[in-house]
Amino acid sequence: MRRVIIFGLKDYAELAHYYLAHDSSDDVVAFCVHRAYLPADQMFLGLPVIPFEEVASIYPPGDYFFFVPMSPKAMNRDREKIYLAVKDMGYQCISYVSSQATTFGNEIGENCFILENNTIQPFTKIGNNVALWSGNHIGHHGIIRDHVTFTSHVVMSGHCDIGAYSFFGVNSTLRNALKIAEGSFIAMSAAVVKDTEAWAVYKGNPAIKMDIPSTKMRF
Ligand SMILES: CC(C)(COP(=O)(O)OP(=O)(O)OC[C@H]1O[C@@H](n2cnc3c(N)ncnc32)[C@H](O)[C@@H]1OP(=O)(O)O)[C@@H](O)C(=O)NCCC(=O)NCCS
Repeated sequence: MRRVIIFGLKDYAELAHYYLAHDSSDDVVAFCVHRAYLPADQMFLGLPVIPFEEVASIYPPGDYFFFVPMSPKAMNRDREKIYLAVKDMGYQCISYVSSQATTFGNEIGENCFILENNTIQPFTKIGNNVALWSGNHIGHHGIIRDHVTFTSHVVMSGHCDIGAYSFFGVNSTLRNALKIAEGSFIAMSAAVVKDTEAWAVYKGNPAIKMDIPSTKMRF
């Protein structure tokens, strides 16, 4: 049984605690946030909340694991920052893959948060720090690179290459064999029919590039 510290105190952290408690053999021992965000009683869901600045002296890397299940804010770069900071401290991050997801021995990296009813078809690889919210179709012979978020009910057809930091809104759809460039923001319900440009926003059916960089998106 791995002893796990969860970073954060918001919805994602609460959900991660729920999923790990109900659907894994991992044991969540504490939550962790930067000192400035510590709650007055230093407790959350009946567990201690430890300042990030001190966590390594209380729960040493090697004996404990981390999980950083944060939202896609700032095109996944906020989650990347904490994930890399935790790794720099010497921790290994766990990945959670729902027992209700369908997988086929896929390569899946660390700090991934993969919820129920995702179908990840054979020969598709998933990098580090990837969130697949519920119900996505992740087609065969594809690759999802690091720091990506799929929200829900996205269809990624076969042979797609998903660039790092990308975000997919609910119900978006990708034609087969597309190359989605780094930092692409695909709006909800967009139907992407051709390769995308880096750090661009796409909307509509067929999806059209918007006049705003994805780094300016607020969600
Ligand atoms: C791209 C997105 C961010 C646009 O949001 P926004 O900037 O707040 O847009 P607004 O709601 O102000 O709408 C601006 C215009 O775009 C249209 N629009 C908004 N989203 C659209 C979409 N996904 N596709 C097509 N048109 C869209 C609106 O109808 C509106 O049109 P109008 O000016 O003719 O009235 C939003 O559509 C989106 O995809 N968000 C992600 C949602 C999501 O997946 N959340 C995950 C929850 S788990």
